[in-house]
Amino acid sequence: MRILITGGAGYIGTHTAINLLENGNDLEIIDSFINSYPAAIKRLNYLKNILKIDSKFNIHNGDLRNQKFLEKIFSDSKKSNNPIEAVIHLAGLKSVGDSIRFPEKYWDFNVNGSINLFKVMEKYECRNIVFSSSATIYKYQGKEVLLDENSVIEPTNPYGQTKAEIEKILQDINKENVNKWRISILRYFNPIGAHSSGLIGEDPFGEPNNLFPAIIKVSSNQTRELKIFGYDWPTIDGTAVRDYIHVMDLAKAHYLALLKLMEFESKLLILNIGTGIGTSVLDLVNTFKSINKCDIPYSFTERRKGDFPYVVADNKMAEKILNWKPRNTIEDMCIDGWNWIKKNPSGYPK
Ligand code: UFG
Repeated sequence: MRILITGGAGYIGTHTAINLLENGNDLEIIDSFINSYPAAIKRLNYLKNILKIDSKFNIHNGDLRNQKFLEKIFSDSKKSNNPIEAVIHLAGLKSVGDSIRFPEKYWDFNVNGSINLFKVMEKYECRNIVFSSSATIYKYQGKEVLLDENSVIEPTNPYGQTKAEIEKILQDINKENVNKWRISILRYFNPIGAHSSGLIGEDPFGEPNNLFPAIIKVSSNQTRELKIFGYDWPTIDGTAVRDYIHVMDLAKAHYLALLKLMEFESKLLILNIGTGIGTSVLDLVNTFKSINKCDIPYSFTERRKGDFPYVVADNKMAEKILNWKPRNTIEDMCIDGWNWIKKNPSGYPK
């Protein structure tokens, strides 16, 4: 199948791309590189070659808000008699903090970019899409309550609001059901880790906002200590609990969701993508330390604004519908994250 990936040079994008290529799909990858590195694409190509994968990909540098740019990709693929059959839509701005500072930018990039993409897809009769949404759209349900797909949606920051909005647009597109769209919305929990080759991984711009990139920076002595936001949450050890999922398990879920969609004439499939297992900040730090035999100095600071104590998926629906099980343990995630930073102490070559 020929598949378009938006945001394909990013963290989730590169890992999803290698999985799709391994499964025999040819890819058109779009990225604007405002939040990712061209070197990630070079690495993807290198990895494809060492894994002896025959499938091919093309890279297109541009912005989803540019309709002409998008149309050219779809029209060229149509002319080549091998049209794009499906889109995996990952592109978007993703920092919760930035979204509070620059809400208009987030609405513009994420929502307007998506609307443009959907318009062009409709024009070129490509109506199969997997969209990257987030667990951040759910309302906090209370201590130790797993979030299922019917949990209340009530995002508390502009980033989450843009994700929820794009979901609504896709649901409207599906509701009419006249054009036979097949839509899958994947609500990611906390993807961490890296491809086991250590050739691709997460390389955030600037100071990492998320826990795992912050841990690997401390483990490789690039930051002196980890700041743990809050020690008095109502959890097992006072630190916040999340559902960490290996990025390759998440990558695989995209392809399985797409294959599942293709079994129907028209479909809306909304799935949580997590492991269903809660891990506290201290659990993650201690596992990383012991499995990699390294030091992670840390100190406690006050809670981060907008955080919740417990965000864990009820992932039964994805397991059942996709016939998928996250394979990797927290230990695997820590080993692969360590391998990535050891091989690439400064991330991708800049
Ligand atoms: N944390 C620290 N120190 C740090 C960074 C994070 O203690 O330096 C804590 C946070 O306070 C939180 C936990 O580690 O309790 C996890 O934080 P992350 O930022 O890694 O992840 P979040 O769950 O807050 O958010 C992530 C993504 C969002 C996404 C959400 C889905 O950043 O984009 O998961 O639940 F929407």
